[in-house]
Amino acid sequence: MRRLHNALLLKQLYTLRELGFEYSDIKPSELEEEPARLPYEMRELEAMVAGCQLCELSKTRHKTVFGEGDENAQLMFVGEGPGATEDSTGRPFVGRAGELLTKMIENALLIPRSSTYIANIVKCRPPGNRVPSEEEAYTCRPYLLRQIELVSPQIVVTLGATAYRYLTGDKSPISRVRGNVIDTQKYKIVPTFHPSYLLRNPSAKKEAYRDMLLIKSLMQEG
Ligand code: URA
Repeated sequence: MRRLHNALLLKQLYTLRELGFEYSDIKPSELEEEPARLPYEMRELEAMVAGCQLCELSKTRHKTVFGEGDENAQLMFVGEGPGATEDSTGRPFVGRAGELLTKMIENALLIPRSSTYIANIVKCRPPGNRVPSEEEAYTCRPYLLRQIELVSPQIVVTLGATAYRYLTGDKSPISRVRGNVIDTQKYKIVPTFHPSYLLRNPSAKKEAYRDMLLIKSLMQEG
């Protein structure tokens, strides 16, 4: 009930801003406590996501895309949101971008994709693959934070600017922050390019490969 109340409140604030009212931007820290009201059991959380109707994306989705992989993974990937193939299968990163992500994991990190955990900022497909709005991203973010808490990885790799922005609150361009290591108290965040960007800009694969080597060395450090 309280979550619904908060989501509606958030919606009102966004509407006021669209009308020209100014107020300070939402800081992730203000929402950090939200996951406290979510289940601590992964299947229960997944069921809650499957029934979620807190934002507009729920109206057009076919399937929610919760996330998949090793729930004790050392390494977690966070993308932006499901595309068409993910929306029809209910699995993350299974389209063309997913094929590239799988190659990056298996050929550069030399580990099976199934040994990692993969999730997204939003669990429902934005129509036409548009970037999720702030409202959609911040409404869905508590689910991701609880997933991260449950998996408890050492490294979280954010794929693209949207994943980086909504996990960290930093709006810097991905070209500036990729390859950095952000040490939070609980895990390290390594931003890199989104595989869809790499499909459109193959020359950036060199830098993405360097990021993978960095991730590999962080994993070996343990
Ligand atoms: N792009 C994403 O960001 N996530 C997916 O699951 C698929 C494509």
